[in-house]
Amino acid sequence: MSSGFMRDAKEDRVLRAKRRIGRTIKSRWRLDELIGLGVTAAVYSATHRIGTRVAVKMLDPDPSLDGAEIKTRFLREAYLANLVEHPGAVRVIDDEVDEQGSVFLVMELLDGETLADRIDRNARALTTEEILIVVDRVLDVLAAAHDKHIVHQDVEPGNIFFTRRGGVRLLDFGFARHRPVTDNPKLATGRFVSTPPRLDSTFGTPAYLAPEQARRSWSDVDARTDLWAVGAIMFRLLTGRVVHPAETTTAQLAATRTRRPPRTAALDPAVPICVATVVDKALAFNKHDRWSDARSMQRAIRDAYRTLTSREAGRFSETTLSLFHDGPPSSGVPGAPDQDIQPVAPELPERSHITPTRGGRHRIRFGALAAPLGRVAIFAALVLAVCVLVTLAHAIWKHPPF
Ligand SMILES: Nc1ncnc2c1ncn2[C@@H]1O[C@H](COP(=O)(O)OP(=O)(O)O)[C@@H](O)[C@H]1O
Ligand SMILES: [Mg+2]
Repeated sequence: MSSGFMRDAKEDRVLRAKRRIGRTIKSRWRLDELIGLGVTAAVYSATHRIGTRVAVKMLDPDPSLDGAEIKTRFLREAYLANLVEHPGAVRVIDDEVDEQGSVFLVMELLDGETLADRIDRNARALTTEEILIVVDRVLDVLAAAHDKHIVHQDVEPGNIFFTRRGGVRLLDFGFARHRPVTDNPKLATGRFVSTPPRLDSTFGTPAYLAPEQARRSWSDVDARTDLWAVGAIMFRLLTGRVVHPAETTTAQLAATRTRRPPRTAALDPAVPICVATVVDKALAFNKHDRWSDARSMQRAIRDAYRTLTSREAGRFSETTLSLFHDGPPSSGVPGAPDQDIQPVAPELPERSHITPTRGGRHRIRFGALAAPLGRVAIFAALVLAVCVLVTLAHAIWKHPPF
């Protein structure tokens, strides 16, 4: 496919998606703004007739799929996202079909931007510590999904969302697979079990596909496939380039299928070794050499974080990680659920905030000095108390009251 053709197709999609703005669908949701155009869908901010602000995700019509298949796919996405039951996964509130026959999902509206947006602005936008914190959050959602036998299969920067209030969300369970180990016939019939995604323009972002996905060996896809993608995202953020750079998708998939990823430290020796080893293990060509599960990778991430921060800050402090900006939520409509995830990594110190910048964007600010300042304050108070006591004792000794 020529790049000109692809550009035209993309422009077409944008035009088609923009034409819907201002429409009220099913007499209930007014589509206000186009806020995202993913691989398969257009996402709008919308207002329900009673005033609730939501996100509406409309699947692009795909001529190769019939209406029933599209609907099944969307229902599966909604069902799986809700099944994860983790505050870092986006809640789907409803599914519907509009007057033109387009299937759509109604979701909680998030306010912020994706990791892909941030990389577009600056490929090395996050510090190593920030990368570890974001990955810790993503792994927490993945661990919850994997516990429910759900493999996301499309973990990529466009599906990682930073909310204005500092939360990190994992979006888009549109390609997720569910392998229920259950006697529940509703789950076991395969109704919600995904068909293998097709490796064409409608499937994910090739740079973050694991070797078994690039080989289309669907029976090999499991939780470690998602961990490969997390490793590929870390690799991108740490080194500034993707694991297998290539001119075309075909060449990139061929490289992923056949070549071992380069060592992180070989590309950027400045990456701390404790971090590089976590990434290299996640990106192991053979999935048996990867982290066995999301929790073990998360533990390694936290160990690396501790190693880094104790090196810099001298001592590790046992406070709660918070990525939250302390300002009010920007979406103040009652019932508009822009609730950010609560801190879930009690071992990590509070060091970061996401702060808004002009134009609605935001950036992560690190290096909270609260803990060291607190220690200095306690020390100063102790010294002061000792001085007062000594002065008092001296005065009493010189002028005894009796
Ligand atoms: N709930 C939401 N709130 C705000 N923006 C969203 C929401 N869901 C998706 N988006 C935006 O829309 C884009 C596409 O959504 P996504 O679910 O990833 O669709 P696709 O399956 O087409 O990739 C995302 O990258 C993000 O920018
Ligand atoms: Mg997406």
